[in-house]
Amino acid sequence: MKDVIVGLQWGDEGKGKVVAFFSQFYDAVVRYSGGSNAGHTIEYNDEIKIVNHLLPSFYIKKSIELIISAGVVVDLEILYNEIENLKNKIEILPEIKISNLSHIVLPVHKKLDEKYDSVNKIGTTKRGIGPAFADRVNRLGIRIKDLENEKKLQKKVERISAIYEKIFGITFDFNDLKKFYNYLKPYITSQLEIIEDIKNKKVLFEGTQAVLLDLDMGTYPYVTGSNCSTSGVHSGIGFPVKLDNLLGVFKAYLTRVGNGPFPTELTGEEAELLRNKGKEFGATTGRPRRVGWLDLVLLKYAISVSGVNEMIMTKGDILNGLEKIPVCIGYKINGKFVDKILDIEEIEEAEPIYTYLDGWHDVKDYTFKKYIAFIEDFVGVKIKGFSFGPKVDQIKIF
Ligand code: IMP
Ligand code: MG
Repeated sequence: MKDVIVGLQWGDEGKGKVVAFFSQFYDAVVRYSGGSNAGHTIEYNDEIKIVNHLLPSFYIKKSIELIISAGVVVDLEILYNEIENLKNKIEILPEIKISNLSHIVLPVHKKLDEKYDSVNKIGTTKRGIGPAFADRVNRLGIRIKDLENEKKLQKKVERISAIYEKIFGITFDFNDLKKFYNYLKPYITSQLEIIEDIKNKKVLFEGTQAVLLDLDMGTYPYVTGSNCSTSGVHSGIGFPVKLDNLLGVFKAYLTRVGNGPFPTELTGEEAELLRNKGKEFGATTGRPRRVGWLDLVLLKYAISVSGVNEMIMTKGDILNGLEKIPVCIGYKINGKFVDKILDIEEIEEAEPIYTYLDGWHDVKDYTFKKYIAFIEDFVGVKIKGFSFGPKVDQIKIF
């Protein structure tokens, strides 16, 4: 069994928690894209809460493997801190495997990320993700395996430094990664071993960011640097994984961090209310998230391009107590009404059209069920369950 879980919006749908819950039914969880731009919050109980950026999300149980595959760009220091933190918080550390083909995020990538974003205002997380992926494509990247051999590494660094100085006019400061490398060494595995290892196992692939932030199918250029949608699984593993179930996670409303179009965005007091109620502040950067109403046209688009065949809705409980809940069911674009988009760029001109559904006081109410049924009917995909609180087990499967 090979399944994938992705976010269907602009991230922060609560994937971490959903992946952690479902991972109890799998042998391994695999990260296949993104890097430390992700911020997956997992609250196990009142005592244990972790925010992971690189390690896959998981359910605390006897045996589970956490795999960081080749498609992930790795900040060694962040990963080191995450593993150390985990050791302090839980009794049994899961087995960890890190691909030797993963590219390393270097301090210079973070510097470049800042520089680029000060002009090309995407509103990135400044974690060096875009520049690290760009270096990978430019064949300037340093991979984890390169740290094995000091001499070869030195040669590579000299070549890359020359290019950096000539083209970017910045010094390629290569700080001491040896310390982190030595620490992580026991976990480093060849990508082929990872492929062989997962072939006969029950594996859950954990998406990062979300479909609308996918490098190709998202709201380009306001996207992240990797194929974080379901299509990224194959290239991120280096093997044509046959996926059985593709599960999409979406929030009962909508948020976005960073810039880019957002037709149902709220402003002023209304926005503040929803933001505070939903605690919508970035897990990675602490930035206040932009908030708005659920956009079913975008949800339908995300489902179409990701091939998701079932869904989980999160944070319906945040809307408890509202009398009416606006849901976007179409756009007015250049004077014309549409309920489907063919190209995501169309949303830049879109004016949302709402229907107003009855609110609920509690997710046990009939009107909550009606909200779910309305969404299923509009997008044509089943909602398998919903999450009603931040803790891993606060999830109801129908
Ligand atoms: P980058 O991935 O840091 O290059 O940022 C590109 C865009 O994706 C920015 O709008 C970020 O705010 C957004 N982004 C990146 N990672 C996440 C995430 O995990 N959750 C939500 N937004 C993200
Ligand atoms: Mg997040």
